[in-house]
Amino acid sequence: VSRDAALGVFDSGLGGLTVVRALREACPAEHIVYLGDNARVPYGTRSPATIVRYAQGCARALADRGVKAIVVACNTVSSVALEMLRAELDLPVSGVIAPGARAAAAVAGEAPVGVLGTAGTIASGAYRRALAALSSRTEIIGQAAPLLVSLAEEGWLDGDVPRLVVRRYLEPFFDASGAPRVGCVVLGCTHFPLFRELIAAELAARAGRPIPVVDSAVETARDIRAFLADRAMARDGATGRLDVLVTDMPRSFADVAGRFLGTPIEHVESIDL
Ligand code: DGL
Repeated sequence: VSRDAALGVFDSGLGGLTVVRALREACPAEHIVYLGDNARVPYGTRSPATIVRYAQGCARALADRGVKAIVVACNTVSSVALEMLRAELDLPVSGVIAPGARAAAAVAGEAPVGVLGTAGTIASGAYRRALAALSSRTEIIGQAAPLLVSLAEEGWLDGDVPRLVVRRYLEPFFDASGAPRVGCVVLGCTHFPLFRELIAAELAARAGRPIPVVDSAVETARDIRAFLADRAMARDGATGRLDVLVTDMPRSFADVAGRFLGTPIEHVESIDL
């Protein structure tokens, strides 16, 4: 595959754009084809078998477009389907769990790591395994936070409703006396950085001091840049193109996506998997 080919990035919906944003900063010359499977969002409440099937559909659609590598910008898919995709595709495939775990291990110190994710990600134990590979001491407190996926897809990012939802989901990270039980909180779902400020503010208000919030997007993008450079697969030249594909509702997707990426998205193509 040519180094001018695009990177294929996918998620169940809007969340993976948090990774696209970091990729455009880390590797501005790369062309990116983003696929949001918003006809079938959320993935995080479904069984591993269904998630694997959806992930195969997304990855094949991107491979058919001639991408040079695939970035799974979804923690749920990275948790349950990464090995299968690697075995099945004749392309490099990378996920978001290992980079996020590495960032968490670096900031948590001796304290347990709090992970907010989808039900599928938390149930899979993927963060526990990824952290165990880095440190034998790190404990995890996982909390499924599925409502945040729906709120993000709706573009309902501030106000009382998201705040109360976040507050409720953060409860297990504090003990009965109100003291924090975690050294950091990982945003273990690519939709959650849309609530990053809110989550950080709620953690700080409750703990009386800031608690680091870790997002895997920047680490993931850094890994991809290093990987492309190592393999002589990086593109040089002018700013790359971003093509956006969705499986439903292109108009409303473009609206929320543009707000989030900070640049209007002129064209969103609707595809059928
Ligand atoms: N953004 C995805 C994740 O990182 C999936 C959210 C969902 O579809 O439930 O897990």
